[in-house]
Amino acid sequence: MKLTDAQKQRIEDLLQQMTLEEKIGQMNQESPSIVGGFDVPFEELIEMMTDGRITKEEFGNIMSNAKQDFHEDEIRKGLVGSLMVQDPVKVNELQKIAMEESRLGIPIIFGLDVIHGFRSVYPIAIAEAGSFDTDLMERTAAMAAKESRSAGVAWHFAPMVDVARDARWGRVSEGPGEDPYLGSQFARAKIRGLQNDQSSTENYVAACLKHYVGYGACESGRDYNTVSMAMHVFYNNYLKPFEAAVDEGAATVMAAFNDLNGTPCTVNRFLLRDILKDSCGFPGFVVSDANAIRECEVHGICADDMDAAIQAANAGMDMDMGTEIYLKNLKEAVADGKVSMEVIDEAVRRILSVKMWLGLFDHPYVTEEAMKRYETLPEEHTSLAREAAEKSIVLLKNEGNILPIDRNAKVSLVGNLADNKEEIIGAWAMSWQEKDCVTILEGMKAEFPNVQYFPCGGPEGDLNMDQIIKAGDYGDVIVAVLGELVSMSGEASSRADITIPGRQRELLEMLLTTGKPVVLVLMNGRPLALDWEAQYVPAIVEAWHLGIQMGPAVAHVLSGAVNPEGRLSSSFPAFTGQCPVYYNHPNTGRPGSKSKFTSRYLDAPLGALYPFGYGLSYTTFAYSDLKVENKEAVIEACVTVTNTGDRAGKETVQFYMQDVTASLVRPVKELKGFEKVSLEPGESKTVCFWLEKKDMGFWNNEHVYCLEDGKFRFYAGGSSGDCLMAEAAIRF
Ligand code: GLC
Repeated sequence: MKLTDAQKQRIEDLLQQMTLEEKIGQMNQESPSIVGGFDVPFEELIEMMTDGRITKEEFGNIMSNAKQDFHEDEIRKGLVGSLMVQDPVKVNELQKIAMEESRLGIPIIFGLDVIHGFRSVYPIAIAEAGSFDTDLMERTAAMAAKESRSAGVAWHFAPMVDVARDARWGRVSEGPGEDPYLGSQFARAKIRGLQNDQSSTENYVAACLKHYVGYGACESGRDYNTVSMAMHVFYNNYLKPFEAAVDEGAATVMAAFNDLNGTPCTVNRFLLRDILKDSCGFPGFVVSDANAIRECEVHGICADDMDAAIQAANAGMDMDMGTEIYLKNLKEAVADGKVSMEVIDEAVRRILSVKMWLGLFDHPYVTEEAMKRYETLPEEHTSLAREAAEKSIVLLKNEGNILPIDRNAKVSLVGNLADNKEEIIGAWAMSWQEKDCVTILEGMKAEFPNVQYFPCGGPEGDLNMDQIIKAGDYGDVIVAVLGELVSMSGEASSRADITIPGRQRELLEMLLTTGKPVVLVLMNGRPLALDWEAQYVPAIVEAWHLGIQMGPAVAHVLSGAVNPEGRLSSSFPAFTGQCPVYYNHPNTGRPGSKSKFTSRYLDAPLGALYPFGYGLSYTTFAYSDLKVENKEAVIEACVTVTNTGDRAGKETVQFYMQDVTASLVRPVKELKGFEKVSLEPGESKTVCFWLEKKDMGFWNNEHVYCLEDGKFRFYAGGSSGDCLMAEAAIRF
């Protein structure tokens, strides 16, 4: 986020002219509030619909009867720095008030939760991270930036980069999974995609790293719950993607709702100032999560609104989302000497810097041409959404090579999720349009001329026995699209039991009794506990929520037109009771084994059912000749991978490290590199990784970086659970 000297001077000149009220106004973000009938911020109403607290019909009724207050009067007084609005006509209308009717004409920055696409909705992050394709992650972000900017949205509350190891947490769907390295590569790619094409102000937006920090470790996977962890775990896992993304140039950060070891992130000076702004050198601004400053009173840290405003501002929280707590308290706090003018000026300087960098001062409006640009999605956007969907699908099981299915086979397609446009786009799809979406049913009809659909049931409600019988009678093969409703993952959607919900397992049992081969296609926003399915269902495809092109992507994989190449960015447990389950765990003094007195369960397998990095292909790959060379400043590790099957395929070669003996317990494996390789049948390639020795260390509890001589193990393979290994003694 670079500014010219002239731009910096413009900001300083503005600061000189601004009154204290106008400065505090920049620190205030508003959402349109619904006036009459339903008095909550518009954003909250959207969330309530997204997570099912109100139906779409109720939402429609409220909206049709309610008036929205867009805070025009406050804008006129220069008291609104940001708004959550996504309609370009409304954006221009409100921006005009700010630019022409307020005293100093400072533009508003319009923000929105564009988490995985604006109009061209692509796979949810947990899925896209599993593509292990950072170029793809960058291209989808760049597409979302262009689409949202044409609607006046110049700030995405994305990427969400929370490391998450507990699949009971619904928000695991929004982030890149359990691994800090993959999460860091995902975060970097998203920052590049969202921010780097500055050839025109219509091509880039400000990213917002969230939720800073440790949110994914909420106790027992229950959303908003308390977070406690050893600082070496924090530094070496949860902080990593944020450090990487700040290094990549992220323009903004959103603080998390949770406390970390007793202090809410929202008022946590150590996190916001010492780590983020000082140690990481973060130049942009920090925004609270929705209502989070006021919630510090509920946490029991702040006595009242005034106390919350003072603590948050002094801790380094630059902008308040949705409470007006700064607007109503900071002026008095400054007058009382509780918050210095330096703190205010620093916050406002950071906010104005992002607006200046976005070009909002000189290009505050959306042009008529831009507004119309994506009325019909361009083919390259649709095909990119499809490419992302296809690359995110993970083949978990294919017993007897049931898959791929002959395109002329009679296919019984089962499961209500297969015929539902809303369920394919996943959480936080704010601006999708029905006409852009292709359901699995539509995709299957285009790929399999003899497919018939039987709505037998889904995540909720009863089963239709008549349809189940007909499905069993008709098809040579049964494809059952089952899983979770979108509302069962995402925010405020933790589940204490992460098996497939409702009567879907019963439905699967009935389908299996027909004697026809059954393919389970999962639509879900989190890892699921698949112990039963893994035992009894011969073929399982993890299809997540893939966005507007989910239908064609699933159909292409099932027909074999596309060879599945996705891998798991998060481990799948056999049973919910194993959560949290993740691959990069410490060894313990009694690592789990068959003998009793080891770290294991009496009633569950050791480790994950399907581990991080796992995924099958329609071909097979073999690894050989792992060679590790201890060079001056790097470790060079090379491995040969061969396509031992009869069709071309892509393999994600993964490279891990283990610090075997150190001054703190270290994980049994840590991902340090990955590369996708395409191989023809019989073809071999040697893939090499170069691990810089400076990256082989770890942070201790005192935030001291430790590089310690000793024995290291290096692993290479197609999954965290299946690798070749080589040892070496390393001196730094
Ligand atoms: C929500 C979410 C956050 C989102 C914000 C604005 O509560 O926690 O991810 O960006 O509010 O919608």
